[in-house]
Amino acid sequence: MPATFDSSDPHQLPPTPDYDAWPVETRPAAVDSAPHVITLHWQDGRTSRYHSVWLRENAADASTVNPATRERTLDLSRLGAWPTVEAAWLDETGALNVTFAPEQRTLRFHPGWLRAHDYSNAEPLDAPLVPVTTWTGDTLDAPCSLDAGDWLDHEPDTVEARTLLESALTAVLSHGLVRLRNLPVEPGTLARIAERIGPLRATNFGSLFDVRAKPQPDSNAYTSIALPPHVDLPTREYQPGLQLLHCLENSVAGGQAVMMDGFAVAEALRERDPHAFETLATVKWCYANTARTTDYVWYAPMIRLDEAGRLDEVRIADFLRGPLMAPFDAVEPAYAALMTLQRMLHEPHFAMRFTYRPGDLVIFDNRRLLHARDAFAGDSGQRWLQGCYLERDEVRSRLRMLHRAERQRRAAALETGGAPDS
Ligand SMILES: [Fe+2]
Repeated sequence: MPATFDSSDPHQLPPTPDYDAWPVETRPAAVDSAPHVITLHWQDGRTSRYHSVWLRENAADASTVNPATRERTLDLSRLGAWPTVEAAWLDETGALNVTFAPEQRTLRFHPGWLRAHDYSNAEPLDAPLVPVTTWTGDTLDAPCSLDAGDWLDHEPDTVEARTLLESALTAVLSHGLVRLRNLPVEPGTLARIAERIGPLRATNFGSLFDVRAKPQPDSNAYTSIALPPHVDLPTREYQPGLQLLHCLENSVAGGQAVMMDGFAVAEALRERDPHAFETLATVKWCYANTARTTDYVWYAPMIRLDEAGRLDEVRIADFLRGPLMAPFDAVEPAYAALMTLQRMLHEPHFAMRFTYRPGDLVIFDNRRLLHARDAFAGDSGQRWLQGCYLERDEVRSRLRMLHRAERQRRAAALETGGAPDS
């Protein structure tokens, strides 16, 4: 049975400061305490250490979090003194009980939650949810493809719908793209699909945009000319994390889609020409749209690394670059690095090529993958894609929720099995 909030019943597992499930697959066998540190010795041999201050702020009682939202209400600085351990013991559920000074308050901690948040043994917290696998056209000749023919017939919470979505989102985070096939071709279906991941990010092109040749285009995308490898909307401070393109019609001659892993290209550049890589990771280029009714401008490096030195995003879209406004002596090296990169973008082995089939939906990381298209003969048939944007946050949140559902099933099985540590 799930514990009620603030449960002090030693026969029940205590609540956690969240809405997740934390299966108790091993239990603490012994506890040592010092005023500032608790040490747990687990049945499987692991030793974990937790600071008293960390434990105090992560308690799951009504003096720490609002039971209605599970958001923290405790202000550590109002405790009167540094929270220290006066006593600590394990109860029959495996929960850790700690009496804290100066409050003289005893709080209980869920062993599954403690194990999952064992920061003394943890990998760095910013490790990706799914390991990134870079690729070139030589190592991956088509997007990872999933048959989604009956996906929309299943309610989002069914096992069938969740299984496909988990495979799709895992592929997006690892390889940067996935292709769902055999979806309906009714206009607007894309929004129903996208909302299974998260809310759409609207832009000046709308929430859903139609990619097809049209009169008076406000983007090269809305013509039949070839598009070079690019990300969308580098002109924004925050580029959309995800792009979805749903093919409704494709009967034209030409117009083949091209995808390229921008991280693979950047890694190859770092190896071949570290100086050019460094230049593109530091010089701020101008990204600007040229339009009659909007004026988006942003200055940023073409390659961005995170604090750990891993590739985080590329900002490549030659037709959306404005005038470079770099320090005078940096201009020629910047252009030399740019041209080195652009020559690499012409190397065919980086590219994956495929033809959209009506009912295909490609989901890709717009801050990592470059997409391009061959020119097509505008009078040879119809080519109509609907597109929209989401954020990377939505993919990660949805995938975590799918993982949470799996943990909830495991936790329930362990509780009904009556042997949480077996
Ligand atoms: Fe595009």
